[in-house]
Amino acid sequence: MAKKENTVEDSGFLTDWKYAPAPEDNKHIRLNKKYDLFINGKFVKPVKGKYFDTINPATEQKLAEVADADEKDVDTAVKAAKNAYDKVWKKMPAKERAKYIFRIARLMQERAREFSVIESMDGGKPIRESRDVDVPLAANHFFYYAGWADKLEYAFPNRNPQPLGVAGQIIPWNFPLLMAAWKIAPALATGNTVVLKPAETTPLTALKLAEIIQESGLPDGVVNIITGHGQTGAAIVNHPLVNKVAFTGSTDVGKIIQRAVAGTNKKVTLELGGKAANIIFEDAPINQAVEGIVNGIFFNQGHVCCAGSRLFVQEGVADEVIRKLKNRIEKLIVGDPLDKNTDIGAINSKEQLLKIQDYIKIGKDEGNDFYQSSCSIPSKGFFCRPTLFINTAQSSRVVQEEIFGPVLTIQTFRTIEEVIEKANNIPYGLSAGVWTDKGSKIFNLTSKMRAGVVWANTYNKFDPASPFGGYKESGFGREGGLHGLSGYLNM
Ligand code: NAI
Ligand code: MG
Repeated sequence: MAKKENTVEDSGFLTDWKYAPAPEDNKHIRLNKKYDLFINGKFVKPVKGKYFDTINPATEQKLAEVADADEKDVDTAVKAAKNAYDKVWKKMPAKERAKYIFRIARLMQERAREFSVIESMDGGKPIRESRDVDVPLAANHFFYYAGWADKLEYAFPNRNPQPLGVAGQIIPWNFPLLMAAWKIAPALATGNTVVLKPAETTPLTALKLAEIIQESGLPDGVVNIITGHGQTGAAIVNHPLVNKVAFTGSTDVGKIIQRAVAGTNKKVTLELGGKAANIIFEDAPINQAVEGIVNGIFFNQGHVCCAGSRLFVQEGVADEVIRKLKNRIEKLIVGDPLDKNTDIGAINSKEQLLKIQDYIKIGKDEGNDFYQSSCSIPSKGFFCRPTLFINTAQSSRVVQEEIFGPVLTIQTFRTIEEVIEKANNIPYGLSAGVWTDKGSKIFNLTSKMRAGVVWANTYNKFDPASPFGGYKESGFGREGGLHGLSGYLNM
């Protein structure tokens, strides 16, 4: 008997509902016109008095001015962190340290709504994502690591875990608050102090976090948050009193940082780019897989280092999967990040939009089959329609290079050996996904994929207790879970 095919219709994807606008209210948020540097528990002006704008990428309107820290400001911040480490934080009983971290977590929960709205306004991500993913996960990281602070001897038995000193932390624009939480929470739990620099396009939630930190009564200088560009980041990395560098961002900058710390005693963790394979076998639940693929690359505008940007689909189901994907991306709503129905918000910056558009041109010039949703996009702001490149060659640049936008490449395969070989044949190794009915296939594949995280029959799922990090050009070291603690300890 012929297998009854799952139709697009029975998945409900074709239902042609038009949603009325459902914008999230942003009257309740509090934003200053101008933000100074958060050093030694106070907001202080930058020495040179320079500021730069952060804009809303969905409207291109200015949201606030933030301080541009130079080497002198970095020096003041690092010295404040060093002083707080020596005089207060490393001497404080661990259970007292934990109380502050719990307090930060609770304050963040109390102000979750304000944080979500600001995150969406400053970075362009849909409110659904910032409200349901970024902010709750950020608070959870503080809760989780607060719990470990006084249990390090149990986490690492017989190893005498000791803090490193001052951690210099540099984060990107795709998960501004969550990356700040990933970096600050384990550093504090292990008894280190912090100088953190958010990305230049998304500084606002880190500065709001500074307000919370001030409110929590955390001793002055334990966390310092300073804004600026690449030079500010480099000054943190190169400061002699910094004992640990934690970086998330591009592979290019990761390499510069690695060179800068070579020959010093500084410990480093790097979380860099990715080009994850998402693999669908013939026996997979196809509708669920299509939804997972869409979630893996299009939500959050593809601004995810572990985004499932390369789809591998087994030949027998390729036509069906591609047809369903095309139908599904036609229905995605691209637009106002503050609208609760929006699937794809604004691209984070004009620069990033130009980079994505460049790659779309490259993919077309290479002769790949091209398909783009015909959905409408706002006339102002930085937006990109969800895009597919079908029947791409393994050597194609859009397959090999990180695009960091809503662009999915599609390749087909016949055997499991073939797909493992192709999926691994890439400079990156951060994550992967596999969709199949068979547990044995999942285990076979996960043991052979050179990727730090492999999701099975789901995608982009995070938990503070599970480690995250990559192989090859995706970086080294792990964040999250016990692994995330060990990067901040001498043992
Ligand atoms: P980037 O790596 O330049 O920026 C990340 C952070 O590093 C920012 O805070 C930036 O100010 C800082 N930085 C820049 N140069 C530095 C230096 N020499 N020393 C120390 N810190 C420095 O990333 P960018 O330019 O914003 O994005 C470029 C590409 O990187 C994206 O198109 C994407 O492909 C990739 N990317 C990957 C991310 C990930 O999560 N793995 C996050 C953001 C970007
Ligand atoms: Mg911004």
